[in-house]
Amino acid sequence: MYPPVTAQELGPAHSVDGRSRQQRLYELLRRAILDGRLTEGETLPSTRELADSLKIARNSVIFAYEQLKSEGFLVVNKKVTQIAVFENHPKRSANKNKVATLPRLSKRGQSIYTQAEPIQYYLPFAPGIPDVEHFPFNRWAKCIQYAWKTVGAQHLSYSSSGGEQKLKESITHFLRHNRGLNCSPQQILITGGTQMAIDFCGQVLADPSEKVWIENPGYFFARKSLETSGLSIIPVDIDSQGMLANQALWEKETPRLIFVTPSHQYPLGSVMSLQRRLELLKGAKKYRAWIIEDDYDNEFNYLDTAITPLQELDPTAPVIYLGTFSKSLYPSLKIGYMVLPKWAVDSLAPKYTHLYRQGQGIEQLALARFIESGELDRHIKGAREIYRKRKEVLNRELIKAFNSKASVLGGNAGTHLTLVFNQKIDDKSWAKKANALGIAVKPLSDFYIHPNRVKTFGLVIGYGSTNERMIPQLVRQLKDIVVLNDID
Ligand SMILES: Cc1ncc(COP(=O)(O)O)c(C=O)c1O
Repeated sequence: MYPPVTAQELGPAHSVDGRSRQQRLYELLRRAILDGRLTEGETLPSTRELADSLKIARNSVIFAYEQLKSEGFLVVNKKVTQIAVFENHPKRSANKNKVATLPRLSKRGQSIYTQAEPIQYYLPFAPGIPDVEHFPFNRWAKCIQYAWKTVGAQHLSYSSSGGEQKLKESITHFLRHNRGLNCSPQQILITGGTQMAIDFCGQVLADPSEKVWIENPGYFFARKSLETSGLSIIPVDIDSQGMLANQALWEKETPRLIFVTPSHQYPLGSVMSLQRRLELLKGAKKYRAWIIEDDYDNEFNYLDTAITPLQELDPTAPVIYLGTFSKSLYPSLKIGYMVLPKWAVDSLAPKYTHLYRQGQGIEQLALARFIESGELDRHIKGAREIYRKRKEVLNRELIKAFNSKASVLGGNAGTHLTLVFNQKIDDKSWAKKANALGIAVKPLSDFYIHPNRVKTFGLVIGYGSTNERMIPQLVRQLKDIVVLNDID
């Protein structure tokens, strides 16, 4: 093959996509060698000859040849430059002309459900999205500025193990005042959101094929994460008092791990009764199971009193309490935390800090400042009133639109309501039609663990990011598409 590269392939003198001409020459020659167009042992033109034929500076060719020599693609033999003979040349592998097939994914990897369509998070009625329009941008920016001013160069390295001490202290204070949870900063580990905390628990607290109880219907990402850790998922029913675990279940399906959302069951909204919470704690201690208490919706509680967290009810019980700032601040911050039981700190905290190196030190310090200065409390208070209004409008409109055909669940806390129909409906195609109109509701049946064992049908409707003025029209749109096709 002579010359091995043409001037046309090489292109103009200026850089293309940030790559200089000499870099491109090197890449073209390397590709020709790997593809077998330049064969092993073949002699290349001298640098002068190639430069002349391409009408480029000789230095460019020298650069390309030197690069290829240093990587072992070329050798110099009696002053001539030749293509090296190297073992395991890609062209000599078995399926010469075939694109390699991917090694298979693990069974767990294959089981991860992936949606064909990209998820649109910032559309009306999207569950789990807070009102980011009223976010105090300036006050948050001031805290970020403050954090940058106070840090030294060491803060640009990895953050402290398990999170910034200042943030742990302010979370301790926040939890004591807002959740009645008495803990110390040593018990706190900062996470990249609840999802990361659940991943950690799934890997460290249970072995593959051990049983994990999951609320059914329940939080999709918890199930997927724990399933991907190789755990065996045991769906546990929900009623108006929360997770329904009886003695037979404890004995027959003894869990190693239990994932539960006691303050506001996701997605049905029931608040776990004291009786059930105490039973769960007693069972977990007796059967030596860990409880993951996801206190997701606690900041936006519309009742006069919030329920006592499981961890506070019995500090001797094996409860890992999870919190997040995804809802109280904004989701892309992706900062959450775990509160370990005091007696488990020595065994669990070092595992966490050895598994994960921490980042976002500056944001963590800014967040600590935001909490300490009372901004978080003020923001939550303001947002709660906005959400309360939106919830009331949505509740009223849903009742008006669907009255005897459905009931509305979940109004005690959080930023979503769940519309549950008295009969089986095709909620998946209803939600799909709504999504096509830009309304991001989710079908309730998707929250069930087994698609063919769904007990209730309806929609999960987020109001956090939806202005109340839009709600009546959006509900009318939902009604129009369901009445026409599914109910009447
Ligand atoms: C039940 C539940 N817990 C926690 C979270 C928050 O997760 P993260 O902190 O990973 O954003 C969500 C978000 O939708 C949720 O639905």
